[in-house]
Amino acid sequence: MQTTLILLKPDCVQRGLCGRTIDRFERKGLKIVAAKLVQVTEELARRHYAEHEGKPFFDRLLRFITATPVWALAIRGPEAVTVCRNLIGATDGKQAAPGTLRGDFGISKSTNLVHGSDSPQSAEREVALWFDASELHDWDRTLESWIDP
Ligand code: RTP
Ligand code: MG
Repeated sequence: MQTTLILLKPDCVQRGLCGRTIDRFERKGLKIVAAKLVQVTEELARRHYAEHEGKPFFDRLLRFITATPVWALAIRGPEAVTVCRNLIGATDGKQAAPGTLRGDFGISKSTNLVHGSDSPQSAEREVALWFDASELHDWDRTLESWIDP
């Protein structure tokens, strides 16, 4: 079982696509264990995207992710990191496969709707960066045996 960080980025919120985006994760059988709306500070943005510091798109990325609030979600399930990345699709909406979130809803490489942690190590770091332990809820889903027995 893995817990991964999902961000519904400012363009997802602005375009009113949060409901349809969350629906994709829910209907897949993943479980939301934390959720909150966050106005991202520059400090949080820099820590979250530290691996990209110095790249040509970094300043634009900081401006984008801090522009207006994001929804932060912690999502749990078997192999949740890979399952979520597959649901999200390739970075560039132009290349993302139809059926993925970026493939269906986006056409940009920089303004690309959703973030998902890219490895179990990143997921652990990012969930801890965005959520206090008290904000994570390990609730029992009564339908569990009908989803992934
Ligand atoms: P994310 O971290 O947001 O889930 O996206 P990702 O793994 O698919 O892509 P990554 O390489 O980690 O890039 C992080 C975010 O930076 C912006 N970006 N813009 N214009 C560009 O060349 C460019 N490249 C990356 C995107 O917002 C990307 O999601
Ligand atoms: Mg990434």
